[in-house]
Amino acid sequence: MAPDMVMPMTARPAAPETASDSALIRLEAAGRTYRSAGVPVDALKPTTLSIEAGEFVAVTGPSGSGKSTLLHILGCLDRPSFGRYMLDGHDVSTLDDRALARIRNRTIGFVFQRFNLLRDERAIRNVELPLLYGGLPRRERRRRAAEALERVGLAQRLAHYPGQLSGGEQQRVALARALVKHPKLLLADEPTGNLDSVAGHRVLDLVDAESASGTTVILITHDPEVASHARRRLEIKDGVVTDSA
Ligand SMILES: Nc1ncnc2c1ncn2[C@@H]1O[C@H](COP(=O)(O)OP(=O)(O)OP(=O)(O)O)[C@@H](O)[C@H]1O
Ligand SMILES: [Mg+2]
Repeated sequence: MAPDMVMPMTARPAAPETASDSALIRLEAAGRTYRSAGVPVDALKPTTLSIEAGEFVAVTGPSGSGKSTLLHILGCLDRPSFGRYMLDGHDVSTLDDRALARIRNRTIGFVFQRFNLLRDERAIRNVELPLLYGGLPRRERRRRAAEALERVGLAQRLAHYPGQLSGGEQQRVALARALVKHPKLLLADEPTGNLDSVAGHRVLDLVDAESASGTTVILITHDPEVASHARRRLEIKDGVVTDSA
């Protein structure tokens, strides 16, 4: 093999030939081009990668490199402009908005940097929301929402409105909302980015626990210490994803 063919030990392209078909997530030459005022932006270049059920993956990269774009596709909040996205064995790249929403509700919990809670609803109602579409009786929904809030240490805050909670508490409500349906896949876009280090660690401990219980976790972060919690690292630069050990 020519010397320039040798792969560096720390970085290999995110295109393992041996990717198993049983992967929870499989992108096949998938990418996203935004068109804004006629100007195309190649936010995510053609990407092939697999993530197995149970993996804990951190996504890092500079601002504007395509991290949120990737996570929104993986979370079925957006579709790839080209290529294929197989989630849990189903091709979700061409589904319409309703079908995507159904898959999101069934399979995915999403946590955003800015919490995205409904300000006019109490914590318990915010967490109950994903359960509204499952046909559960109201009392059972309440029970599960309360249980999820207890899990994140907020048993004493069920009736609080988001504005009455600290940033760290709001993010834990958001986490409870993401986890209340026990999703296979937990996606988090800078979940500790707006928190101080104590509140951030508390959220991170909960994410760790969720990963330890078998949930697949993909987390975007700028913080190397946060990234070190994951067992696999994806780095993005200018829309190009690299898998680093
Ligand atoms: N809806 C959109 N329309 C047009 N361009 C967009 C859109 N969303 C993102 N972009 C562009 O795509 C590129 C990638 O954006 P993205 O939000 O994925 O970056 P990021 O890595 O998440 O950045 P940050 O760390 O700042 O959150 C950026 O150049 C951005 O300007
Ligand atoms: Mg982003």
